Amino acid sequence: MNEQVDISYVANPRSRRRYDAKTLTKSYSPSVASSVRAFHRSIPRYKPTPLTMLPHLAYGLQVNNIWVKDESYRFCLNAFKILGASYAMAHLLAEKLGLRPESLAFDQLLSEPCRKKLQDITVATATDGNHGRAVAWMAKQIGCKSVVYMPQGTSRSRYDAVKSHGAKTIVIDGSYDEAVRLARSKAEEHGWLLIQDSAWEGYEEIPTLIMQGYLTILNETLDQLEGETPTHVFVQCGVGSLAASLQAYLYELFGRNRPLLAVVEPSQAACFHESMRNYDGKPKKATGDLSTAMAGLACGEPSLLAWNILRDYADVFVSCPDYLAINGMRILGKPVRGDERIISGESGAVTLGMLAHVRTHLENAEITNILELSRHSRILLISTEGDTNPEAYRKIVWEEDF
Ligand SMILES: Cc1ncc(COP(=O)(O)O)c(C=O)c1O
Repeated sequence: MNEQVDISYVANPRSRRRYDAKTLTKSYSPSVASSVRAFHRSIPRYKPTPLTMLPHLAYGLQVNNIWVKDESYRFCLNAFKILGASYAMAHLLAEKLGLRPESLAFDQLLSEPCRKKLQDITVATATDGNHGRAVAWMAKQIGCKSVVYMPQGTSRSRYDAVKSHGAKTIVIDGSYDEAVRLARSKAEEHGWLLIQDSAWEGYEEIPTLIMQGYLTILNETLDQLEGETPTHVFVQCGVGSLAASLQAYLYELFGRNRPLLAVVEPSQAACFHESMRNYDGKPKKATGDLSTAMAGLACGEPSLLAWNILRDYADVFVSCPDYLAINGMRILGKPVRGDERIISGESGAVTLGMLAHVRTHLENAEITNILELSRHSRILLISTEGDTNPEAYRKIVWEEDF
């Protein structure tokens, strides 16, 4: 493997100093996480996704432990995104229907009077695949209509997955960020409810609910860890909602003693990395052309809410070339003897690809110190998707074609 890799990183000088014993924001407190999880539990067939330990890989990479939270099992949807879309949509629609969102159970939305009103509602969103599929799935469950905009170059399988849940699905002649702008203007024009997982000035309530929905991942993980705590959390980042919600919750739980959190992006869509590298307090657009195999992370503009959290609390921002994601898929798909196999897509596997690369090739490089990696590290990774593009998965993992 080429050791002169295009992996790039920035340490955040502000991250640990800002702890002041106050809550960062009440939106991501343990009590919010419990009520979000209670809502998810009320969805039929809810089950915590597996937390898989990879002791043999950890031994090989000379770290103490590696856990992978495997979101490919999430409600048979192959990705974590349903946690945010289901919670946000239920919360908003409950308000509209005069139900109490704080203690809402999923089946309340299925009552006859609710269904009658829900069939007149249309939700809209833009997506690289997983979020749109989640919105379409939830809309179908509760009987409202959905319209989903996807960027140019979307794979057939991602398109079909969204469409299979009954959404009107439109592939535009533009990037993910352009799809977001189009969904926004079409929603305004037609009076649709925009369920977007990114925030901007004046559009914050729904992305906050989506980020709260993601708290279930860590809430389950903490139960599964049975008192053990990771020293590191590496999390992949598109618009940053997932990373920021994890970061906020970790802060609420552990304060100054929280694990080191590294935000990991594709080199071609590294808007957080670039915002941090050219820091002036404001988020910047990615300078890359967004062409990356990590389709779920091909976002050029940070979510404002996510930026406000990660800017002040995340510890390290790393940008990675595609082949590290590919390596991550292969390592998880063809594991070291004795470890369990995990099916992880490009966006799901990049953090493991990054970790393996740093431990194998960059042990004496600065990034090892910046990431504070050692034999004592206990690292939590989230495989955020399975083989959401099965054809590409087979080519990459079976035929080694990349
Ligand atoms: C599989 C996968 N992982 C990670 C992410 C990143 O999440 P966020 O956009 O909240 O940063 C996405 C976003 O679509 C995704 O689809």
